[in-house]
Amino acid sequence: MNHHKVFIFLIALILLLLGCSESNRQLSETSESESLGGQAEDQITYYSHIKPIFDAYCVDCHNTDGIAPFPLDEYSVFLPYLDPIMHSINQKTMPPWGASDSGVPFKYDQRLTDTQLALITQWVDEGAVEGAPESEAPALTLDKGGLDRVDITLSLPTVYTPTRDRLDDYRCFVLPWPLEEENNIIGFSGVPGNAKSVHHLVAFKIEPDQAELVDGFEEIDDGPGYTCFGDANPSNWEPDSLADTLVYSFVGQWAPGQDGTVFPQRSGQQVKAGSRIILQVHYSTVAEGDLSDQSSIQLMLDKDIERESIYLPWFNLAWYLQPDSMLIPAGQDQVSHIFSGKLSESAGARYLAGHLDFSEGAYLHAIFPHMHTLGRQFTVRHLSSEGQITPILHIPEYDFNWQREYHLQEPILIRPDDQLELECVWDNTMEQRLKSGLMVEELFDVSWGDGTYDEMCIGMMYLTPVAQE
Ligand code: HEC
Repeated sequence: MNHHKVFIFLIALILLLLGCSESNRQLSETSESESLGGQAEDQITYYSHIKPIFDAYCVDCHNTDGIAPFPLDEYSVFLPYLDPIMHSINQKTMPPWGASDSGVPFKYDQRLTDTQLALITQWVDEGAVEGAPESEAPALTLDKGGLDRVDITLSLPTVYTPTRDRLDDYRCFVLPWPLEEENNIIGFSGVPGNAKSVHHLVAFKIEPDQAELVDGFEEIDDGPGYTCFGDANPSNWEPDSLADTLVYSFVGQWAPGQDGTVFPQRSGQQVKAGSRIILQVHYSTVAEGDLSDQSSIQLMLDKDIERESIYLPWFNLAWYLQPDSMLIPAGQDQVSHIFSGKLSESAGARYLAGHLDFSEGAYLHAIFPHMHTLGRQFTVRHLSSEGQITPILHIPEYDFNWQREYHLQEPILIRPDDQLELECVWDNTMEQRLKSGLMVEELFDVSWGDGTYDEMCIGMMYLTPVAQE
């Protein structure tokens, strides 16, 4: 049972009850002001000011069939939730977006602006008036990405129904690569098969020499696919030898509210015939009704790219080889581990990107942060060889449930002698356990691993080497 969700649910219920009495008051105030002479010209109303904001920033998830707990596109339906709404937008937990302003600007930023926040606050303070449907303001456009075309769609081999035994079901599916010739992925998007249950999708690429190994993963668990947690590795599996260790590279990620990404600078990731894609689906099982799903990913392909790219996993190889070198002692709430290095010296460059030449450096375009449920903060910095430190990405309140990729508005050139620095901060206390939903009887030391109770600290960096220009 997921204690975190029960806790959240109780809080939501309390807020909801508070919200109900609050909105009754607001409703009666509204009708009073209307009876005193109708709406003033400059009155902020749902239709004239607020609806375009909710439609653009909330309704992708908060719709009748969406993943979020209540719809935000119908005034009478969301009115009882005004208090939790104000709470979540003031705390900046909604819309979900982890990056703070201390890094560089990112594309597809989903956060409300200060002006929008002030407008919603004033609207609620003045009684959250509905206004007339005729006064509806034009829709706002928010850049959520998008593909120029879809060249192939890869779907789960069959329908999967997530188990209600858990509030979150993480399931991996092996999808054969359908093309006979080498090609490059130049754009990625996800299509949830069931918007109520699919919380996010993460795709990994497996090279042909491990195709047989991953095809065998299907036998590990009952039903389609297999249980996995932080990555493509089956939860109920250990490699027989180091040679069997699964080598996967990140391909792309999708969560509600994102319409896909075309990779920058006409770059792409090479895929060989005979490869496999492992699609990890995070299912949330709290919604009522049918949760069955057959999700897909959509890819844009191009044989003729200008630059080859890679998602380089940025982490300290020592953490992997000697897990205790990334020790997170029981009971400590601010445990930090840092890794910095040059591009060419990283483990990812050695094991995954041997075919790429980092001798002239690389452009950094996007970062996908990854820790598990004890993760609290995630930071990536650029250390220039002249000693200048530039924060690129800082996530002050990391949330395992809202992992997303951050696409830099402008690529950053990482020169051969520059370093990238990654810092992860964890909280190994009971409070964090309660929040994380993975309760334990007693706290214990945690270190590197891909299991549910292990931790990781990886930044998947989308890079295009300079040398190929
Ligand atoms: C990317 C999807 C997504 C977007 C966009 C989004 N929400 Fe949510 N929201 C959720 C989900 C899912 C939950 C359930 C709790 C969770 O998983 O965090 C939620 C929960 C909530 C809650 C319940 C309390 C809480 O914080 O858990 C409120 C209130 C809320 N959202 C308001 C909003 C508002 C207002 C917006 C737009 C300004 C918005 N949300 C945008 C997905 C979203």
